[in-house]
Amino acid sequence: MTSEKLRLGVNIDHVATVRNARGGDYPDPMRAALLAVEAGADGITAHLREDRRHIRDSDIVALKRGLSVPLNFEMAATDEMVAIALSTRPHAACLVPEKREERTTEGGLDIIRGRDHLAPRIRALSEAGIRVSLFVEPEPAVMEAARALGAPVVELHTGSYCEAALDDDAARTAHELARIRRAAEHGAGLGLEIHAGHGLTLGSVGPVAALPQIRELNIGHSLIADAIFAGLAQAVRDMRAAMDRARSS
Ligand code: PXP
Repeated sequence: MTSEKLRLGVNIDHVATVRNARGGDYPDPMRAALLAVEAGADGITAHLREDRRHIRDSDIVALKRGLSVPLNFEMAATDEMVAIALSTRPHAACLVPEKREERTTEGGLDIIRGRDHLAPRIRALSEAGIRVSLFVEPEPAVMEAARALGAPVVELHTGSYCEAALDDDAARTAHELARIRRAAEHGAGLGLEIHAGHGLTLGSVGPVAALPQIRELNIGHSLIADAIFAGLAQAVRDMRAAMDRARSS
C-alpha cells in the first residue's frame, strides 16, 4: 500500500504539569501548542483528567478557540467529559481509561467488556461531529470490537513496545512491534483509521512510524522532556524529521 503522510499530534499535558507545580499561569500550554504547530505539529492533544492534575477546563476552551490545527481532546468516557466535549466541540475525542492513582494512562480501554458503557457516549460524540478515537491495546479482537462500536479511529497503545525498547530487550521489542503491526493491518483492513502513541521517543519512534497503516502518532512526554535541553521547537522538528525518515525508508 502507498503510505500517506504521517501526522504528528503533540500532547502538551506536561507543559501544564510544570505550570501547575507553582499554581500560576506560566508556562502557558497554549503558547507551547502554537510553538509546536509552527515547528511542524499537525495537531495538538490535551487530556483533561478527572482530577485536573495538568490540563484545566480553561485550557481546553483556549486551545479550541486559538488553534488553527485539529484539537484532539483526550478524555475518560464519563458523562462529565462527554458534556465538556459537546460544549467545546474539539475536532476529535480520544477515549482513554482513567484511574486516579495512575501516573499516566497505563493500558488500553477495555472496549469488549465496556461496550455497553461506551456505545452511547461514542454515539453522542459522533452525532455532534466529533471524530471518536479509542485508545486500545494492539490486538485483532479489539480492532473488531472497535469496528462494531462504530468508532472511526483507534489509537494503538505503544507503551509495551516502548518499555521493551527502553530496556534494550530486542526480542521483546520485536514481539511488541509485531503486535502493533498485526493490529494496524487488521484494523486498517476493517476500515479503521489507525493512530498510535504512548511512550514514544526519538529512539523508538522509527519502526512505528514506518508502518504504512498508521496515520497519526500522538507524542507528549519525550517531546517536553527533550524540550528542556533543545527547546520545544527543536524537539518537535527532530521528532518530525525522525518520523519522516522512517516513513520514506
Ligand atoms: N496517546 C494517549 C491516548 C495517551 O494517553 C498519551 C499520554 O497522555 C499519549 C498518547 C502520549 O504519551 P506520551 O506522553 O508518553 O508520549
